[in-house]
Amino acid sequence: MGIGTAVPGLRVSNSDIERFLDTSDEWIQSRTGIRERRVAGPELTLLELAARAARAAFKAAGVGPEQIDTVICNSSSPDLTFPSLACRLQAELGCPQGPAFDIQAGCSGAVYGMALAQSMIHGGLSRRVLVLTAEIFTRVVDWSDRSTAVLFGDGAGALLVGGPEESGAEIVAFDLGADGKGAWALDTVPLSRPPEAGSGRLPPYALVPRALDRAIRMNGREVFRFSTKALEQVVVRLAQAAAVSPDEINLIVPHQANSRILATAAGRLGIPFERFVCNVDRFGNTSSASVPLALAEAVGEGRCRDGDLVCLAVFGAGLTWAGALLRWQPTAVGVDDPAKVAAGSEAENRAQPPDPDHEGTSS
Ligand code: ACO
Repeated sequence: MGIGTAVPGLRVSNSDIERFLDTSDEWIQSRTGIRERRVAGPELTLLELAARAARAAFKAAGVGPEQIDTVICNSSSPDLTFPSLACRLQAELGCPQGPAFDIQAGCSGAVYGMALAQSMIHGGLSRRVLVLTAEIFTRVVDWSDRSTAVLFGDGAGALLVGGPEESGAEIVAFDLGADGKGAWALDTVPLSRPPEAGSGRLPPYALVPRALDRAIRMNGREVFRFSTKALEQVVVRLAQAAAVSPDEINLIVPHQANSRILATAAGRLGIPFERFVCNVDRFGNTSSASVPLALAEAVGEGRCRDGDLVCLAVFGAGLTWAGALLRWQPTAVGVDDPAKVAAGSEAENRAQPPDPDHEGTSS
């Protein structure tokens, strides 16, 4: 297995959002744990962000695009209805003409994609699969809806899944599920009010033309209830599958929706919160990209040690949930983060206060 991630360099803090939305840093941090998120500027496309994550994984793992015979992408924020992101990514990267297709499993897409990849490999259909999750959710939120706009950020993650002879973490068990009866709790509706160019308030990233004039709608309390339960049950079932107790899992890498969900699930499982990876404070909820981003960060910080049981646990729109239990082995990780590269000039990556005279174009 190999991992790659990419995020936009632009950092948008809660205070930056306060300038054009009736919200506060205090409300956002206390309810969600989010301090800032990365946001794609008008010039960045979903395809470019996805390609950057894939190339980061290739470089780290020493794999060339010619060695990828299947491309599976997941995005809940696609830039086109069709052709698929996977087909365009295959061409962009120069991968051979094997299967390439998108799946739609909401925030659970990375683990659904891994399970599909492993099945294809076991079934002899593929040798090495690129599972790519990429999201520009800041082009799906309604920037006039404070209950959802503050939650999301942009990013992409790549997972290279190969056969048992490949190096990297070993997949011990999967757990996948969905309950379509809950679809209403997290869906999209026509945008009530298109973002207004010329309002002089909205920043350029909120005015980028959208693939669909629809925006996310969420019943926050219902999603909270579902997410805490799904997270707990995924961890319990994976522990059962591996004949260990949940407490024997060394690290849990959950979907980064909000830190209160993670703390509640940790409490119910009786697992110390320190064993949960949480980077939602700096990236917000990046939907299906969140678990690869959190996993890459955990590896970079030395939190995955050889032999550890590492549990990926995700939940999202659909409603869907999924988990993967990994036995950790040295795994190549590549991170493409322009803000880290430019750490010396961090200020350049911060969102600028909107200019009161700004005409609101997306230049
Ligand atoms: N800033 C300030 N006030 C706000 C904001 C905001 N951004 N958003 C809502 N409010 C206000 C509401 O208007 C309401 O005000 P009122 O009491 O005067 O009517 C008040 O805050 C409480 O609103 P609720 O929606 O009841 O807030 P709640 O305590 O439920 O918290 C939250 C909302 C954080 C979304 C919570 O429901 C939650 O954590 N849900 C989980 C959902 C989640 O994190 N989803 C992520 C995406 S889904 C996924 O990834 C699977």
